[in-house]
Amino acid sequence: MCGIFGYVGKRNDAGSLVIDGLKNLEYRGYDSWGIACKTDSKVSIEKDIGKISSIKSEDFSSNCSLAIGHTRWATHGGVTPQNAHPHANGTETIAVVHNGILENYQQLRRDLESKGHEFKSETDTEIIPHMIEEYMKETGDFTSAIKKSCEAFEGRFAFLALHTESNTLVAARRGSPLIIGVGEDGYFIASDIPAFMNHSRLVQYLDDGEMVVTDGESILFSSLKTDEEIQKREIEITWSVEEAQKGEYEHFMLKEIMDQKDSIARAVNQNEEQIETLADAIRNAKGTFLVGCGTAAKACMASEYFFSVISQKHVNFAPASEFKLYHHFLRPESLLIVVSQSGETADVLEAMQIAKSKGSKVLAIVNVEGSTIDREADYSLLINAGPERAVASTKALTGHMAVLMLIAYALDGKLKEGRKVLLETASEINDMLNPRYVDFVESVAERIQDQKDLFIIGKSWNYPMALESAIKIQEVSYVHAEGFAGGELKHGPIALIEEGTPCIALMGDDEVKNDIISNAIELKARGGFIIGIAPENNESFDVWIKVPEAGTAQALVNIIPVQALAYFLAVKRGKDPDMPRNLAKSVTVK
Ligand code: G6P
Repeated sequence: MCGIFGYVGKRNDAGSLVIDGLKNLEYRGYDSWGIACKTDSKVSIEKDIGKISSIKSEDFSSNCSLAIGHTRWATHGGVTPQNAHPHANGTETIAVVHNGILENYQQLRRDLESKGHEFKSETDTEIIPHMIEEYMKETGDFTSAIKKSCEAFEGRFAFLALHTESNTLVAARRGSPLIIGVGEDGYFIASDIPAFMNHSRLVQYLDDGEMVVTDGESILFSSLKTDEEIQKREIEITWSVEEAQKGEYEHFMLKEIMDQKDSIARAVNQNEEQIETLADAIRNAKGTFLVGCGTAAKACMASEYFFSVISQKHVNFAPASEFKLYHHFLRPESLLIVVSQSGETADVLEAMQIAKSKGSKVLAIVNVEGSTIDREADYSLLINAGPERAVASTKALTGHMAVLMLIAYALDGKLKEGRKVLLETASEINDMLNPRYVDFVESVAERIQDQKDLFIIGKSWNYPMALESAIKIQEVSYVHAEGFAGGELKHGPIALIEEGTPCIALMGDDEVKNDIISNAIELKARGGFIIGIAPENNESFDVWIKVPEAGTAQALVNIIPVQALAYFLAVKRGKDPDMPRNLAKSVTVK
């Protein structure tokens, strides 16, 4: 979702620095870009639709030490150069880039229009510089006018603002993330760390309801409401620059699939005492709920089976966006487990607020350290997958499932056994992901690349993996894919099977194996082309993608060849798997 990046400091190439930083935020998903540079007492704004990757940063290297930039993912108003950020007031003295949605913007716009303000775009963002201008008439001061404007805004926002008369970069936040990079030559403010990772490895987090003002030498954090100054810790980033780059791979998605050779083992390597404490929290809770969005939601759903099979414990899954009406079940003794790669997903944050308002405790399982969810939860566990930049989530899924499974084992008093199962699985995955294996999966993608539809079936924990398989294939290859519980086939979906329709059957060597084989046979009888992903071959399979037998961890191994299949389908169909259309990596709006 929208990427924000700004710099102020001693360097005089702020324009090219911001363009380069925005290129590192491309993974978030966007459809237009723009930049505002302050030179002398002028602001020059350049913006356009399309990709920023082809823009030469050298073209923005003119003498400038204060600049803000943006990659926009359209919400209010179509994808047009006028709607791209930055937006300015009428006299172009104030420029703003913004992430989030100002819910009352129509009313505010009408009020401003009645005072003579004219607007050039259809966005909610454009009201921000006009509001600031209006309040500056009252306060005479840029930062106080920003605070007053924020009081009038309803909804979630994070924005950066600059003014021709001042050498300061100002940021305000309520809802959407902003992180400050502390550099030797100035300060960086971005919606995510990769924007400035090449320049700074020390960060400070802006929390909700806060504002930060910096002139590049000093920095002042304060509350948006009370003016009270706030002290911030500097935190060192633990990821290396290399980890956040593609390295030898053509795309981040493939790199991140291959990262699972060791990211699962890192996820399992948790502090045992902490896992036992969290298992206790679930044991003692009167009702445990699991929420997440997209791929993280599928990790939650798989965990319902982990907790049922491994620890005979009932936990309740809901997509975070569906959690609102569950608040009737929540009590102070309830526990909410939230699962998120980015730690910034708006629907997950809302679920946390609902739980907190009922006095319930929140346990977070996240990848990004220091993210809002990580900081706001009562307990938080990191999956340590390293930076995940492809929009399609891969290694975060297996990391989340590994941690949740570990907790399920701890709940049954068998943490050591759980570690052993998972570490053996991690080692099998390491062996599985060899070049020959990956080539074989690519050859399967080649056989089905021209098909219009694809169906995936699974049972027990392979059922959420069938749903996840469909998400992976849809989001990067744009092939129509649907996942089903094998047993549900004959209640509808089987009507869609025609001669040659590719159908993936996910299975393990477990008590539901024969059921899913029967489902595969039913599909084959209707002409389905069966791709079996299983530890053992079966005569119903037209193609067999072998996976190691992994017992309770079968879901973790079965999903990996599907991730690779989705990747190769995308590439073979000429799509960019790292930047799928209409999708964003971090969904910070509702
Ligand atoms: C977006 C991403 C998905 C991700 C979901 C939840 O839709 O494209 O890959 O699974 O958000 O994100 P989170 O960061 O909370 O795991």
